[in-house]
Amino acid sequence: MPMDAIMPMLTLNNGVTIPALGFGVYRNPPAQTTVAVETALANGYRLIDTAAAYGNETEVGSALSQSGVDRARLFITTKLWIDDYGYDSALRAFDTSMAKVGLDTLDLYLLHQPLPSDFDATVASYQALQTLYEQGRVRAIGVSNFGTAQLAELLARTDVVPAVNQIEVHPYFTEPELRAFNLENGILTQAWSPIGGVNRYAAKSGNVKDPLRDPLITALAAKYSKTPAQIILRWDIQQGLCAIPKSVSPKRIAENIDIFDFYLTNAELSDISALDTGIRGGPNPEDIRRS
Ligand SMILES: NC(=O)c1ccc[n+]([C@@H]2O[C@H](COP(=O)([O-])OP(=O)(O)OC[C@H]3O[C@@H](n4cnc5c(N)ncnc54)[C@H](OP(=O)(O)O)[C@@H]3O)[C@@H](O)[C@H]2O)c1
Repeated sequence: MPMDAIMPMLTLNNGVTIPALGFGVYRNPPAQTTVAVETALANGYRLIDTAAAYGNETEVGSALSQSGVDRARLFITTKLWIDDYGYDSALRAFDTSMAKVGLDTLDLYLLHQPLPSDFDATVASYQALQTLYEQGRVRAIGVSNFGTAQLAELLARTDVVPAVNQIEVHPYFTEPELRAFNLENGILTQAWSPIGGVNRYAAKSGNVKDPLRDPLITALAAKYSKTPAQIILRWDIQQGLCAIPKSVSPKRIAENIDIFDFYLTNAELSDISALDTGIRGGPNPEDIRRS
């Protein structure tokens, strides 16, 4: 059966549908990105998550144009970087990103991060996203790395409720309060580092652990004859999150989408959620400053 037929879809607050599982390309060197995205598309991924800051939008675009996958079946996200915050600069940055990915219309455009030190610029950037949305150049707009206070201020000062808040979520950092706030406001939580990649990148700091090595996760992997990554991705998906794992390995790209033939029980979902340490692997959004 084609993967398109079994991929669960989530519905955003404006009615647009988004695959529950996508493919991220952060830390993908440009030289490896085209092949990785082609491999992902060949394995049935249709949601690709890139960003201006990743420096690989052009390579994502090459993979899209070479893939032969019908544009209507693709869901492409990119993000506005904080150096381009401001109304006019955001509109210019959008045009630059679109030229790189080679698309006329984008599926989802996100503010990559809040800028607490200049929230007026954050709001002005979001207003540019609203303009792009009203013009039909993006099918949905949203944010990333926003906390509850920042979301509340954005909601109070703008007109279009973000469709998505893309945040760090994995079994060791589950963000229950922020996810509940997203849900209450009709905002889909999209999990970045859904299998805890940020904790492996940050392992040298010593204060974060790798959820793929957690004894509960490895025991469930043995029980279901699945891998630790597949267990965690089921946990993501079964909670209604949208997950966007990244890999450059053909084997792991295939592994991460091979998760639609088993179910975790509600008790197992709760047990995994109880692994939360409250320690984030990524930067605290409150500390973000322009470089
Ligand atoms: N909005 C933001 O601020 C933000 C921040 C971070 C990430 N993101 C997005 O979220 C995506 C995913 O996050 P992420 O890349 O940080 O972390 P992740 O997807 O949780 O983990 C990726 C890491 O795990 C490895 N890996 C992948 N599949 C595996 C498997 N089945 N078994 C064992 N290891 C596996 C990858 O290595 P290999 O490549 O060698 O397989 C890579 O080192 C990013 O690519 C990006 O699109 C957004």
